[in-house]
Amino acid sequence: MNNATDSLSLWQQIVEDWNANGRDWTKPGFRAVAVYRFGVWRMGVQSIVLRAPFSVLYRMMFRKVRNGYGIELPYSAKVGRRLIIEHQGAIVVHGNCVIGDDCIIRQGCTLGNRYLDRPLDAPKLGDRVNVGAGAKILGDVVIGDNACVGANAVVLNNIAAGETAIGIPAKILKRKPVPEMAVSANDVLSLEAAMAAPSAQIEEK
Ligand SMILES: CC(C)(COP(=O)(O)OP(=O)(O)OC[C@H]1O[C@@H](n2cnc3c(N)ncnc32)[C@H](O)[C@@H]1OP(=O)(O)O)[C@@H](O)C(=O)NCCC(=O)NCCS
Repeated sequence: MNNATDSLSLWQQIVEDWNANGRDWTKPGFRAVAVYRFGVWRMGVQSIVLRAPFSVLYRMMFRKVRNGYGIELPYSAKVGRRLIIEHQGAIVVHGNCVIGDDCIIRQGCTLGNRYLDRPLDAPKLGDRVNVGAGAKILGDVVIGDNACVGANAVVLNNIAAGETAIGIPAKILKRKPVPEMAVSANDVLSLEAAMAAPSAQIEEK
């Protein structure tokens, strides 16, 4: 994940998120991310006295999103650009979680700790990670860029970049071998050449 959110104003970040979330400001997912961005932004206000009213406002909005939409996305998590939260309900993101750019999480997803005695362990998602509905990613696991987590999977181990994990406990999806093509690429080229030849002769005449 790059830290490009640092170089964007709060407004620019929220506009990006709005675009990513279907340009619909009424979507709970967009609202949750906007409140998250505000929560992070207000921590940049150096004076505690000046920050206090923003913090009160943030906590009110955080609770409203959590209690109303069932989306817990605390400001202490590290979230990249353009996070998409599809739908709402039972979405829990641990405060130590890292989420890269252009990730998607959906209803029923938990990105949380695995053991009660290791409360600070949290998943780290790379860029463009696609998390299916109802998936649970638990503990100090790393999910690589472009990885996919199937709906309702329970991920307890790292997933390498580009892999898809499904099931409980989640296993890497092994692709079935694609049957060999009856016609090879060379056959197609020679067929094209054969078809082009007569027309070339006609043009010469
Ligand atoms: C995991 C997922 C991305 C796989 O997509 P894919 O790479 O196109 O894989 P396929 O659909 O070809 O399925 C490959 C195999 O995995 C199985 N599979 C797919 N998704 C699965 C899942 N979530 N859990 C268990 N098995 C799954 C299929 O049955 C298939 O098994 P088979 O080879 O024995 O027939 C997709 O199925 C998924 O779960 N997407 C989540 C989408 C979502 O949450 N939508 C909610 C919108 S509100």
